[in-house]
Amino acid sequence: MATRVKVLMDCDPGHDDAFALIVASKFADVLGVTTVAGNAPLSLTTKNARIILDICGSNVPLHSGAGRPLVAEPIHAAYIHGESGMDGANFAEPSRPADGADAVHFIIDTARANPGLWLVPTGPLTNIALALRAAPDLVKNISGISLMGGGRFGNRTATAEFNIWCDPEAAAAVFDSGAKVVMSGLHLTHQLMATPKRIEMVRGAHKVVGPKLAGLLEFFSKMYKSLHDDFEGAPLHDVCAVLYLTHPEFFVASEKHVVVEIDGEHTRGMTVIDDRHVSSRTTANTTVLETIDADAAFATIVEAIRACPER
Ligand code: BDR
Ligand code: CA
Repeated sequence: MATRVKVLMDCDPGHDDAFALIVASKFADVLGVTTVAGNAPLSLTTKNARIILDICGSNVPLHSGAGRPLVAEPIHAAYIHGESGMDGANFAEPSRPADGADAVHFIIDTARANPGLWLVPTGPLTNIALALRAAPDLVKNISGISLMGGGRFGNRTATAEFNIWCDPEAAAAVFDSGAKVVMSGLHLTHQLMATPKRIEMVRGAHKVVGPKLAGLLEFFSKMYKSLHDDFEGAPLHDVCAVLYLTHPEFFVASEKHVVVEIDGEHTRGMTVIDDRHVSSRTTANTTVLETIDADAAFATIVEAIRACPER
């Protein structure tokens, strides 16, 4: 039985961010959505979030945020997500504009007004780091931060995953903030693949949006397969960060100390996980998700799609 938690989604849609929003809309109380530059420039990630909220029939507040990382140069991921950030389907123009352009203050106000809120960042951590810097009291007010990022290997470089690599200074501040951090890293998210069979489940799940969402997954999978030796499809990375909160029974986790490397020549953006077995290892600051029941997780994604309104 799913536990209903209050969440604020901070995202850069992004194919997998889109599915994370759909799952959160069905199984969590979404108090708001904020956007950040990442997979695509901010104007596009914000437009894509507006499109997905329409698909979910959701009127929750939506605020755009940081248009670039704290220090690093802005770099996007058209090589995976296409120029729009969400290539693969034709969507109607979104029905409403964003409610504001000050995501950081929206995050602060929402967290202060709703003790126990979970922040769920599925893009670079710029907005979250800025919010924690401006309002360090948030650390005590929130339940935690369930983020997609990092892992025991990289994708943008050998050691760095895209979300952390985009804004390592922001990520370092978040892991070091004292907040409870739950990490859905690549070693976990690569277990949740959109295989051809699962894409057909998505297509059949909803008369109106099923074929469009399947189109997104086909594009995303085509890009992943063209860039990897051995992938059956694209991993739905960002959904893991939501599912941990709504369906924790799908996961096996371990408690570890994690820091983000910001200086290394070969390791900038790496999440350094203290996996040592020595008793002198650093005290854990992160719940590292290790495995996911992918079939159960995918059935849950399909259930969330079925719940989208018919229009
Ligand atoms: C992460 O980067 C983006 O491409 C995805 O949306 C996900 O958040 C995976 O490295
Ligand atoms: Ca993302």
